[in-house]
Amino acid sequence: MRKHRSTEKIDIPADDVLVCRALTKSYFQGETHIKAVNDCYLTVKKGEFAAIIGESGSGKSTLLHMLAGLDEPSSGKVYLAGKDLFDMPDRELSDFRSQKIGFIFQSFHLLPVLTAKENILLAQKIAGASHYPRYLDELAKMLKIDDRLHHLPSEMSGGQQQRVAVARALINRPAILFADEPTGNLDEESSEELIRLLLETRAELSQTLVMVTHDKRIAERADRIFTMKNGVLREM
Ligand SMILES: Nc1ncnc2c1ncn2[C@@H]1O[C@H](COP(=O)(O)OP(=O)(O)OP(=O)(O)O)[C@@H](O)[C@H]1O
Ligand SMILES: [Mg+2]
Repeated sequence: MRKHRSTEKIDIPADDVLVCRALTKSYFQGETHIKAVNDCYLTVKKGEFAAIIGESGSGKSTLLHMLAGLDEPSSGKVYLAGKDLFDMPDRELSDFRSQKIGFIFQSFHLLPVLTAKENILLAQKIAGASHYPRYLDELAKMLKIDDRLHHLPSEMSGGQQQRVAVARALINRPAILFADEPTGNLDEESSEELIRLLLETRAELSQTLVMVTHDKRIAERADRIFTMKNGVLREM
């Protein structure tokens, strides 16, 4: 059971696909109290590309996980496609997530006992029937992992695992894609190819993209740039 149920209802314009208000995440480590994310407000419109930059440890991943409904805030609200994420029953939230949201994790989170192909198709299975049977082949080709589909994660390089994680995040053609340093393990050329693919997919699906990146040149291609410092989010 979630802690933050409230009956407060607010009107979110249909175009504001992602809204967070007063979002905070605190951690206690012994005597110290860290506000990894401190009172963040954010509104992203449908189809926008928002980039989040900031130093290591500033709270970017923590924020992204909460925005995607993967981690519960200490306080505050997240509305995705008009739904109050942390006011939904767990089951409804996980269905909503698997159908609407794609997430590329900073550390891939591939299941070690499954091959690349099985990892990608698992996401599709969880979301229900396969609507796009050929999309896996297309994605694998575009991401240059078509010759790696039957390998286990331990048999792939970091960059290859990252591209499998990208395919897994895109396989359900999500309305909103969160990407946490998706180019962190790629060389310059592969990184450029991946960004191009993400931007093409975004245009094709009218997808909203929220990306954490260390790369200023990637951030400059976003519609909006946010910086995170000591848990505090500001728009540039
Ligand atoms: N589970 C946890 N328990 C305690 N502290 C945590 C936990 N997760 C994150 N933190 C702390 O919260 C702060 C923000 O971490 P976060 O991973 O969000 O940073 P980040 O901006 O993504 O950093 P990086 O660029 O290195 O990925 C850090 O001080 C981190 O140590
Ligand atoms: Mg991080």
